[in-house]
Amino acid sequence: MAAPGSLGEFIAALESRGELKRIGEEVDPRLEITALTDPVMKAQGPALLFEKVKGSPAPLAINLFGSNARMCAALGVSDLNDIAARLKGLMEMSLPQGLWAKLMTAIPKLKELAAFAPKQVSEAPCQEVVLTGDQASLDLLPILTCWPDDAGPFITLPQVITADPQTGKQNRGMYRLQKFDAQTTGMHWHRHKGGAAHFRAAKELGQRLPVAIALGGPPAAIYAACAPFPEHLDEAMLTGFLLGRPLKVVKAVASDLLVPAEAEVVLEGYVDPNEPWRVEGPFGDHTGYYSLADEYPVFHLTTVTHRKNFIYPTTIVGRPPMEDYWLGMATERMFLPLLQSVLPEVVDYHMPAEGVFHNLVFVAIKKQYPGHAFKVMNALWGQGQMMFAKVIVVVDEHVNVQDEKEAWWEALNHIDPQRDVLFTKGPADALDHAAGLPWLHSKMGIDGTRKWPDEGFTRPWPERIVMTPEIQRAANEKLKKWGLI
Ligand SMILES: Cc1cc2nc3c(=O)[nH]c(=O)nc-3n(C[C@H](O)[C@H](O)[C@H](O)COP(=O)(O)O)c2cc1C
Repeated sequence: MAAPGSLGEFIAALESRGELKRIGEEVDPRLEITALTDPVMKAQGPALLFEKVKGSPAPLAINLFGSNARMCAALGVSDLNDIAARLKGLMEMSLPQGLWAKLMTAIPKLKELAAFAPKQVSEAPCQEVVLTGDQASLDLLPILTCWPDDAGPFITLPQVITADPQTGKQNRGMYRLQKFDAQTTGMHWHRHKGGAAHFRAAKELGQRLPVAIALGGPPAAIYAACAPFPEHLDEAMLTGFLLGRPLKVVKAVASDLLVPAEAEVVLEGYVDPNEPWRVEGPFGDHTGYYSLADEYPVFHLTTVTHRKNFIYPTTIVGRPPMEDYWLGMATERMFLPLLQSVLPEVVDYHMPAEGVFHNLVFVAIKKQYPGHAFKVMNALWGQGQMMFAKVIVVVDEHVNVQDEKEAWWEALNHIDPQRDVLFTKGPADALDHAAGLPWLHSKMGIDGTRKWPDEGFTRPWPERIVMTPEIQRAANEKLKKWGLI
């Protein structure tokens, strides 16, 4: 199964598998689409294609990635762990030692990945229609107002493309965009993210930063925009790796940025570092709470390009579990071998939906020396966007951390809180509303491993309760006969 090359291809594939529901009745992008989609998303129901959205000529697709099966279909695999295995194979070819950044820098040098560099084309479906001046308007799009206290309509599934003004290296990030009017939006890139770094570089040079925002394209490109790829690497490479072929890109109309040729819509324009920032939000966020209003740069739209008949892809976030859990799950699985390359003692890790990615990480390790759990949590807080993790719980290798109940059961049994809990400090995700200061909070590491005598624990450690296997097998036969299991 190949990864789909466009949104249209993905939608057709989902439809043929019975995983897409078309809705012909007119629906309202203000709150109604959220109210209709939220229960479907929570139940891991189908992707939805709203064909008639009030006030817009375009159909709207949502919940495209909202299950394990659809996330796999988006990336052309039958199991997300298959991507991890491919990545691991690549890395085993020749891997320099070192930390995350070093490791990630090495990846494009590997031959196989070099074949996935984007391929520039001169004509592209995403530029079938080109609109400039007053015609370049966000009013064309069925942008959702997701929740009752949202500050306005928000574009929620964009690939925001910028380039480092010095090196020209591109970044693609998924940053929500609040529509202020037909030609301006907020640019909600958090300060730790790739787009914000390009913005700071442009500010130093006193230049406007060209921005292109792609909607749609290969689902792998949509996913890659939210993957925590290092700042200096273009997510187009990751997309090529996931697609198994180069991402086709075309030069944007208003700038030299390269945008996915197969996108549905591209919004082109700029952010001016000399312009005052504007209040953005509140927005009903993936924590299940409204993220607070704050000031962010303003995006100015100058050009819209789109396919003749385009589909508007979007999502909603809110109280978990939602669609974004599956996007995060793809990252979790894919990044395991990368994590293991710097921390080989990590057997597995898991970010449960309720932990909204940055609040809770379970890690199973092969413990080899006293204090090993603390070493692992400290190392994790130093790896890319793991820096945001508020609580890290480390358990022994035999614990299945994919089973959150098992992980809590084991960890809570094995801790003496004063001895086994570490408090430290670090950067907070912008969405941590409980942080004492915006961007800075405390962190908690819990050592839920069995304690060893050389860690000062001299009492005997008990064994897990397990029935004698042959007695249990015989008992199960009887239970089956009696209709009890
Ligand atoms: C649906 C969705 C919406 C997101 N919205 C934002 C956002 O508004 N601002 C932000 O900084 N990160 C947001 N993220 C997380 C970033 O996309 C993620 O951190 C990504 O790695 C950023 O790319 P970068 O590392 O190239 O900057 C969102 C993720 C998802 C799945």
